[in-house]
Amino acid sequence: CGIVAYVGHREAAPLVLKGLKRLEYRGYDSAGIALLDAEPSPSGLRVYKKKGKVADLENELAGKELAAKIGIGHTRWATHGAPNDVNAHPHESQDRKLAIIHNGIIENYAAIKQNLIRKGHVFRSETDSEVLIQFIEDIRKETGSSLEEAVRLALQEVVGAYAVVILSEEDPTQLIAARKGSPLVIGVGGNEFFFASDATPIIEYTKDVIYLNDQEIAVVRAGELKIITLDNAPTTPYIQKVELELEAIEKGGFEHFMLKEIFEQPRSIADSMRGRVRAEEEHLQLGGLRDYLGQLAASERVVIVGCGTSWHAGLVAEYIFEELARIPVEVEYASEFRYRNPIIKERDVVIAISQSGETADTLAAIELAKSKGATIFGVCNVVGSSIARTAHAGAYTHAGPEIGVASTKAFTAQVTVLTLMALSAAQQKGTISNTVFRQLLAELERIPALVEKVLRDAQKVKEIAYIFTYARNFIYLGRGLNFPVALEGALKLKEISYIHAEGYPAAEMKHGPIALIDEDMPVVVIATKDSSYEKVVSNIQEIKARKGRVIAVVTEGDSHIREMVDFVIEIPNVHEMLMPLISVIPLQLLSYYIAVMRGRNVDQPRNLAKSVTVE
Ligand code: G6P
Repeated sequence: CGIVAYVGHREAAPLVLKGLKRLEYRGYDSAGIALLDAEPSPSGLRVYKKKGKVADLENELAGKELAAKIGIGHTRWATHGAPNDVNAHPHESQDRKLAIIHNGIIENYAAIKQNLIRKGHVFRSETDSEVLIQFIEDIRKETGSSLEEAVRLALQEVVGAYAVVILSEEDPTQLIAARKGSPLVIGVGGNEFFFASDATPIIEYTKDVIYLNDQEIAVVRAGELKIITLDNAPTTPYIQKVELELEAIEKGGFEHFMLKEIFEQPRSIADSMRGRVRAEEEHLQLGGLRDYLGQLAASERVVIVGCGTSWHAGLVAEYIFEELARIPVEVEYASEFRYRNPIIKERDVVIAISQSGETADTLAAIELAKSKGATIFGVCNVVGSSIARTAHAGAYTHAGPEIGVASTKAFTAQVTVLTLMALSAAQQKGTISNTVFRQLLAELERIPALVEKVLRDAQKVKEIAYIFTYARNFIYLGRGLNFPVALEGALKLKEISYIHAEGYPAAEMKHGPIALIDEDMPVVVIATKDSSYEKVVSNIQEIKARKGRVIAVVTEGDSHIREMVDFVIEIPNVHEMLMPLISVIPLQLLSYYIAVMRGRNVDQPRNLAKSVTVE
């Protein structure tokens, strides 16, 4: 979910709505806003909520009284209760004097709710968030304490994750916010304050922000901000500058964010290497890793954790780390790893990969590993995010904000940074020859230009997409480093076109998926000229013998495969270790064009959210 709140001299409603649109990547099944008049007035809190997107809420608001200098808003990704008007946020207290927006999950809500029901509370929605605001109301009435104190006492009882902002009818200058586990950024302007799940709704007004820490409560009242801990100790707010420019979060002439982000990859890959790779000096420099590189090189095992696309980047890294640095690697879904009492030793290094740096399962996985003594490296895109701050060391992927829900440029940036990490470890360990090291650095520097070249052929991919727009299934095959790429290609297609797709190791196909192949089954095979080329060619023959329709991603000039298959997409040749950075590009484009032709909402596919801050 995404949350936005404002108090100051501007009109709150348009500002909050605009902010919610910037946060829609975090969830978009319902939205709502609560506003309050600057002067205490009998009209009290005005709360408007609507199932659907922020645009649906805006339609609902047409003609309504929206004047207010203070307001809170929410865009939801449903956890407790179906996405409908009632379950949308803000939620109100029983007496409708308090309103809350909440991102996260209150795990012990059922027990609290039972207690409140016994005391006569009635609930309007099925959400855990409504339980929290009624709980605060109850404490306030029972103890006669201030709202700030009631919020603190309530949150002390709460188990779970939250970022909340609370608005009270009694004080139109006051907002109370708190966080534990879910992100919350405070923008500090001249006599105005902004609260949001990330900095994007804030940066057009101020670059001065505070990242609220876990277990902290921020109180703005009459133009003053103070921060206390859940234990009621005052803390000094640390104001920092965000280095995010507005154009980085706008579409810049592209039809969709996803397309913009695909086309940004020559730049984002270059940015992820900038200042780190010096091919002529045969030198790599990863600042955030400096003090920990020895530990990485000496580690007995690397465990990589992540979810979704980030997990796929981890699978690519497994090949690279093992090949170059000769360190055994295990790649785990964060959600599985954390729940099975994993064996972690002190000399293990855990690398957490996360675009957002906020994925709840990944965060919990590294906290677990940390508690068992492992060293944690973060590979995150969002600067200052929770995972980046929890890790001992790490390297940012400088891909810039990724807004399309389906990840593209973050993936290639992750693979780039992980490659640099593997190369550094290999050099430190002495498992790589100078020649190969130098060769790989030189090849890396060529990648942006090679990606550019693939993108110039986007039209060809579009033509193929047109032919397969109405396919009902897809299989993606690859071997070696191109196997995770096959998984990623299938995931991209599923996510945005809603076509069922499976990624498989090409050789494994004969143990099951081959049964699916007939003349209606398109099979995307990544068949570049590498050490498994001949084997993949045999796999293509197996598909063709069963009349499957093959779209092959091949190395330029490969006439052999061209003769066997239905369609080819040519990509430039590059060192096998770096091929995923190139071979994934046409698959991103293929899924994008198919989804567009099917009329899907590419940037905000149904049921998904970009940043999943619930487990
Ligand atoms: C969500 C997104 C995916 C992403 C995954 C992991 O499911 O829709 O695109 O790969 O989360 O996110 P992270 O921010 O941890 O990389």
